Formats: sequence, C-alpha cells, structure tokens
Amino acid sequence: MTVKEIFETMDYGPAPESAAEALAWLVDQGDKFGHYIDGAFTKPGKGFDSRNPATGEVLAKLTQAKQADVDAAVGAARKAQPKWEKLGGAGRARYLYAIARLLQKHSRLFAVLESMDNGKPIRESRDIDIPLAQRHFYYHAGMAQLMESELPDAQALGVCGQIIPWNFPLLMLSWKIAPALAMGNTVVLKPAEYTSLTALLFADICTQAGLPKGVVNIVTGDGAAGEMIVNSDVDKIAFTGSTVVGRRIREATAGSGKELTLELGGKSAYVVFDDADIDSAIEGLVDAIWFNQGQVCCAGSRLLVQEGIADRFHEKLRARMDMLRIGDPLDKCIDVGAVVDPVQLQTIKGMVESNTAGHVHQAACELPENGCYYPPTLISGLETSDPLMQEEIFGPVLVSSTFRTPEEAVELANNTRYGLAATVWTENVNLALDIAPKLVAGVVWVNATNLFDAAAGFGGVRESGFGREGGWEGLAAYTKPKGKAKPLAKVEATTGEGAPVDPIDRTAKMYIGGKQARPDSGYSKPVWGKSGLLGHVGLGNRKDVRNAVEAAAGAKGWSKTTGHLRAQVLYYIGENLSARADEFAVRIDAMTGKKDGAKEVEASIQRLFTAAAWADKYDGQVHGVPIRGVAIAMKEPVGVIGALCADEAPLLGLVSAMAPAIAMGNRVVLAASEPYPLAATDFYQILETSDVPAGVVNILTGSHAELAKPLASHLNVDAVWSFSSTDLSKEIEVVSAGNIKRTWVNNATAFDWSVDHSRRFLQAATEVKNIWVPYGE
Ligand code: NAI
Repeated sequence: MTVKEIFETMDYGPAPESAAEALAWLVDQGDKFGHYIDGAFTKPGKGFDSRNPATGEVLAKLTQAKQADVDAAVGAARKAQPKWEKLGGAGRARYLYAIARLLQKHSRLFAVLESMDNGKPIRESRDIDIPLAQRHFYYHAGMAQLMESELPDAQALGVCGQIIPWNFPLLMLSWKIAPALAMGNTVVLKPAEYTSLTALLFADICTQAGLPKGVVNIVTGDGAAGEMIVNSDVDKIAFTGSTVVGRRIREATAGSGKELTLELGGKSAYVVFDDADIDSAIEGLVDAIWFNQGQVCCAGSRLLVQEGIADRFHEKLRARMDMLRIGDPLDKCIDVGAVVDPVQLQTIKGMVESNTAGHVHQAACELPENGCYYPPTLISGLETSDPLMQEEIFGPVLVSSTFRTPEEAVELANNTRYGLAATVWTENVNLALDIAPKLVAGVVWVNATNLFDAAAGFGGVRESGFGREGGWEGLAAYTKPKGKAKPLAKVEATTGEGAPVDPIDRTAKMYIGGKQARPDSGYSKPVWGKSGLLGHVGLGNRKDVRNAVEAAAGAKGWSKTTGHLRAQVLYYIGENLSARADEFAVRIDAMTGKKDGAKEVEASIQRLFTAAAWADKYDGQVHGVPIRGVAIAMKEPVGVIGALCADEAPLLGLVSAMAPAIAMGNRVVLAASEPYPLAATDFYQILETSDVPAGVVNILTGSHAELAKPLASHLNVDAVWSFSSTDLSKEIEVVSAGNIKRTWVNNATAFDWSVDHSRRFLQAATEVKNIWVPYGE
C-alpha cells in the first residue's frame, strides 16, 4: 500500500461526546416539564414526548399548554413589564450580561442537549448555535446599555409573544428574547414542539441569573398553543417558521394593532461564476445545504452554476458529497446528523420521490440503521419551473441548474417567491458587487455562506417575511415611538347643494403614469366646500389601481437613480409648491372650512425639503462582524408603496407619505384624502412641472374602502400604508397576507401631522440588505 492509498483510506475514528451531563440534568428535572411562568416551573401536565431523532428514545415529557397556561404566562409578563422597563437600559443590561455569562458557563451542556433534542451534529451546536446565542445576549446587553442615549424616542412595546421553530432552538430563542428584553419588553415564548429542551434549560438560567419573575415566560406545546399566544393580549408577535403558518398569523393579527415580524422560508440561490475558486465554492456549498441537514431557512438550496464549469463543478461536488460523514450527532467527526423528526423525514422523502426531472445523486454513505437520517442529495439539471426549484424542501437536498451570463444568473436567482438570502462566488470583486444589489434577498454572502452575527440584521423580503433580527434595525421590531396615540376621528366630506362656486366645469382627473387619466368607472363625485360646489373628482376602482400599479412597477429606473438626483427633484417640487403656496392654501381652506391652509402648505414644503435633505444621507452602515470581513448594511427601497393618505390634512398627509418614499427610491400609488381630494389633484400639476419621471408618483381619488383591497392584494405592490380616517387596517392586513406584504396601518389611531415623522417614514420606506464581503486581513 502506498502512502497515498493509506492516506485516502484512513477514516475518522469515532469521537463521541458524552451525553451523561445532559441526561443527568433531565433526570434532575424528573424527565417531565411544566411551563416556566412567573419565574417558576408549573406542575407538569398532560402533553407529549420529546424524542431524540437520532435514536428515537424519549428524552422527556412535555406539557401541552392550555388556554389557562397561556393566560397565566401573558398575565405574568404583563405584570412584570412596567417595572422591567423602568429598571432602565443599564439595569437591564446587567441581567442580559449575566444570562450571556451563564450560557457561556454551561455551553457544553446546552450544546449536547441541543444535539440530542434536534439531531444536529455536536460540531455545529458547540461551535455555531451556542456561541451565537451567547453573542446575541452580549450584543443586546450593549443595546440595553445604549438605549436611552441612542434611541431617545423609543419605548418598549410591552408584552411580546414569540413563536420559534425547531431548526435552531436556542439560537432562535436568543434572537427573539435578547432584543425584546434589552428594549424593556417582557416575553412569552413558545419553542417548537420537537425541540423545547434547551428553552427549558434556558428558563433555569433565567432563574440562576436572578431575572425578575415574569420577564421571561416559556410555554410548551404545538401549533394550537402557538395560536393561543397569537390571539392573546400581547402587543407583538414575533414568528419564525413556515410561510404557511406565517400567513395564517398575519391574518389572525390583522387589524388588532399587534406588531408583527415574520421570518419565513426561503429557496436561496447559490450562484457560482466560472471564475470562482471552485474548491472553496464546494466547501461553501457543504455549509450552505448540509449544515443542519439543510433545515435552515436561508440554506443555499438552489445551486446556479455558470455553464462553462458546470460539469466539472458537479463532478467535484458529487465526489465531495461522497466524503460526507453522516451519523450519530454526538460524534464530533460527523458532518450530517439526523433530521429533526420522522414527520419531517417523510416530508423530505415525499418531495424527492415526487420529482421526475433531472438527475439524482445521493451521497455514497451508509446511513445508520435507526433514526431519522436522509442522505445528502443533489438533483441536477432542473428547470426553473420544476417544483423542486421553487418549493422549500427543508432537508439535505440541493437542486441545481445552470446559467450563461450574469444577467441570466440574476434572473434565475430572483425567480422565486422568496427573498431571504443568496450567495455569490466569484474571484471578480466587480462582478460580485455588481450582482449583490441586483439579488432580491435580505442577506447576500460573497464568497462565503451561512454567516450570522448579532450585529448584522437578518430577515427577508417577499414571501420570506418582514422585519429584521439583529443589528440596530432589529430593535425597531421591539420598540415604538414614545407618547400615547390619540384615537382616530372620522373626517366626513362637506355636503351641499346648488350651483358651483365657479361656472367652469372642474372635474379633476386622476394621475397615472405621468398622465391625467379619467376614472375607469366613468363615475365622479362632487366635492363641496362651505361656499358651495368646488369641483368633481373621479371615483377610482380596481382597474385604476391596476393601471397605477403597472405604471409604478414600470418606473423601476427611479430606484436606480442616485440620492443626489432624487434630492434635486424633491427640492424642485418644494420650490414649485412654494411658488403656488397661496393658491393651495385657499384651496385647502375652501375644502376644510378652516383657516390653517397656509400653515399646512408651509409644513408640506418643509416635508419636501426634509425628504430632499435625507435622500442622500439616510445611509446604511458597515457592521464589523467577527469574521474576516464586513457586513455592508444597504438601505434599499421597498419597491412600490400604496398609501391611503390622511383625510384630515389633504396636502400635508399626501406629501408626508410621498416625499420620504420617493426620496428613498420607491414608486408610489397614493389615494388622495377622501373628503378633501382637490389639493392632491392640484398637486399633480406641481409634479408635472418638477421633473418627476412618469409612474414614480400616481394619484387616485375615490373611496378609500374601495381602493384599499385592490392595493393590498396586488402582487406588484410591496407595501401598503394606511392613514385614512376610515379604519381599514384589518381589511388591508388580511388581504396583504397573500404575498406577505409589508403594512403600516393606523389601527384606529390618529397621526399628528403637525409633527415631522420623517424618520419613521424613511424607515418604513427602506429594507436593509446585509451584504457580507471578505475584507481586511
Ligand atoms: P411551523 O411553521 O408549523 O412551526 C413553527 C412554529 O410555529 C412551531 O413552534 C409551531 O408549534 C408553531 N405553530 C404551528 N402552527 C401555528 C399556528 N397556527 N399559530 C401559531 N403558531 C403555530 O413549521 P413546521 O411544521 O415545524 O415545519 C414545516 C415546514 O416549515 C418545514 O418543512 C419548513 O419548510 C418550514 N420551516 C421553516 C422554518 C424557517 O426557519 N423558516 C423553520 C421551521 C420550519
């Protein structure tokens, strides 16, 4: 035998991690768990078994939460919240530090318990899950410390309901609990039914850290318990899990005023260009799709390889797959562990078996006889339309296709309803940085994959959900502006009869795609002022919404313009409005019957100038993440925003929504104030003379109730805002669930338009994309 042969046949010996400590901890707890409510474990009740997916053995018995348990947990959290918030950021920081330290001190116990409960290799739980969980608490201890000085206008939301999945049990818990607590909220968290054990160990840590009672509450159970939390008296729901359940939660919370963040599924593209370092790209792919058995929401599950290297790449990939070691998760030499549960294993098998396209290669490894194991699998030669190129498998199954040009790579990568993450491999920095902004995803990794850090926000676009976890941007999900909102007051149109004030017919048209457009309905309504009939406006309908959205979607070029250019256009609008200020003031007063039109016009001009000022200053950040690189947090426009504008401030309401949105590169479809629409229809004359490209701003008139639904259901609308005095929050949010649109609705509360809320608007008008690039030594 040659040395080479010996080297090649040398296999790893087993290196098992002991389960003794974790088993002893379970025995100490009596192998049975109740919920953790108000600082103590409740008596275990009726429930279900938690099993080790690698062996099938029962690890513990868990209690299924009933309504009374959820109520008790929410009650405890509610009671504890004011005191916890009043403790101040520095006070809370100490507890978060203490928790981080305790997690560190017990890190091996957590890692072993996690691997036993979930089936993930100990290498991963030990080196990734648990250290990242600790880091999240350290990082957010810092955020608590800085809250008062850096976020002076922010306050806690109150009680947060948090529902997490089974793929990163402790890590997802940390992502949810650390920022919530840092910002002064208390929580009720439900771990996934397959993997509750590290959450219960975490409860123990909270007690050890001396965390005040009721600040963290943990209830166990299945989806029914999750539903109870969603419907309970909480101020926010933070959910990570499947898109199907996320959609259901969106519908259930619609119009309730509960804040919502959804971190859902993905089918993330892994793009390899022909100049890539192929061996590194293949190692990256191992981490992209076989990390955690592929049960990762941002798994690089869709490989796109440039045609010229495709054969060689696939050949090398298959050879690498055959080297993967699959087996006992507690063995330190294992690459791929067990799938979380027989149900999930069956789902994966079913999906792969249903596929008839392409070529299937499964790793030449021996699967353990018992336990939930599935071999690493590659299905190559698929077309974009093949179901497995579109559906999330959530298992160790990679699908692949090829592309010819960078343009085609982008097109294929974006050909998905999801938008969570993407990976780009190329040795050409110009190409990487050209492609990254074009990928529709919340996270992009360049020459690396599946990197996470508390400092870099994580979250998706499209049907991958909304909201970010981590970083400064993640804090927005756990805070609200200081102050108490006033209730919404319905603004009724002035009624009247008789002849027009001015005998010339004044029927204002709508403004679509840079042109004045008659309403499709062929109907219009009179607009009365105290002095008589002021004119008519068209009654917009579904078809007008469609036309306006089409125009906005077509004005994509606006999103690519520079902030400098957008600022110039906004200044120009401001100047032109200023030149006609008196005329607008008279118009507003005539409609509202008040005398503050001049003030409203002046405030509108200020809003335009403020948005212009921000257009080239509302920058992203560069996060110093602990890898040899940085994460560039880019603020990107949301896309097409539909807004029902304030009724009570006919010009200022419209301008306050429009200006920051277009400053950030969005295109808008605005429904004018319903009772006082004429300021908006006059305003398009200003737009026409201010170099606003066609389609960037579209203005409709008519009934908000009529326009809300088609706006919220339109697939090309990315976000819907409602400041209408008709509370349409519920209708909008229910319908928005269709493609998981972002919503910002007033939930029957009034906005004070005399105050400049530009920052809130800028935030709502942008999505943060974190692009991880290698940098430095
Ligand atoms: P799931 O979305 O059903 O479960 C996630 C969490 O939500 C669990 O804690 C569950 O108990 C809870 N839940 C379930 N139904 C609920 C409801 N109606 N209201 C409130 N909470 C509810 O995910 P599941 O069934 O465990 O996995 C199914 C598929 O979901 C996977 O095959 C995968 O495709 C996807 N998934 C995606 C994850 C991600 O991180 N994006 C994580 C887990 C699953």
